[in-house]
Amino acid sequence: MGVQITPSILNADFAALGAEVARIPGADWVHVDVMDNHFVPNLTFGATMVEALARSTDLPLDVHLMIEDVDRHAAGFVEAGAGSVTFHVEAARAPVRLAREIRSAGARASMALRPATPVEPYEDLLGELDMLLLMTVEPGFGGQGFLELVLPKLRRARAMVERHGLQTWLQVDGGVSLDTIAQCAEAGADVFVAGSAVYSADDPDRMVADLRAAAEA
Ligand code: DX5
Ligand code: ZN
Repeated sequence: MGVQITPSILNADFAALGAEVARIPGADWVHVDVMDNHFVPNLTFGATMVEALARSTDLPLDVHLMIEDVDRHAAGFVEAGAGSVTFHVEAARAPVRLAREIRSAGARASMALRPATPVEPYEDLLGELDMLLLMTVEPGFGGQGFLELVLPKLRRARAMVERHGLQTWLQVDGGVSLDTIAQCAEAGADVFVAGSAVYSADDPDRMVADLRAAAEA
C-alpha cells in the first residue's frame, strides 16, 4: 500500500457534511473526528452522524475516537459503517481486547498515541493493529501547529514495524500540510490526515492530489 490521504472533516462545514465530503472524490478515506468533551475539550458527533455519512459517500470512513470509555463504544462505530476505527491507548482499558473486537466486528483496528505517549511499551501489540496513529498535535482541534518532536517517535515506530515484518500502517494526524507532509513521509508515515490544509483550500480535491504528490516525492 502506498501513500494514502485521509482528509478530516473537522474543519468542513458541519451544516453540509454530505456536500463537503463530495468535494474530495480523490481521497482514500474520510477522517471523522469523534470528540466527547471529556477525553478532549471539544465536542463533535457520534455514531448516528457516522451512519449518515456512511450512507452519503462511497469513500470508506476512518473514524478517530477521542472519547473516554472507548472500550464500550468502539464497536458501535463499526456497526455504524466505519471501515477503520481508532481508539486512544490513553483512554482504553484493554487495548488488545478492543483491537480484536473491532477486527471481529469487521473494521480495521487502529490505536492512537498522544504526542507525549511513548511507542516502546506497545511494540508487542503492533501485530494486533492494522494502523498506528501518531498524533502530531494534542488532539482536540483542527488548525494547530505541527509538532516536530513526534518525528523521532515516528522513525522508531517505522523501525518496529519493519523489524517484525508487519503490514501495520502508520498514520499522522495534526498540522499536516504541504509544508510538513514530506518530513512525515520521510520519517515513515504512509497514511496522512489533513484537515485545515484540505478544507481551507479553494479546491480541496486538488489539495488532496498535491499532498499525495508531496508525500510521494
Ligand atoms: C485533531 C484531529 C485532527 C484534526 C486535524 O484532534 O484529530 O484530525 O482535524 O486538523 P489539522 O489538519 O487542521 O491539524
Ligand atoms: Zn483526527
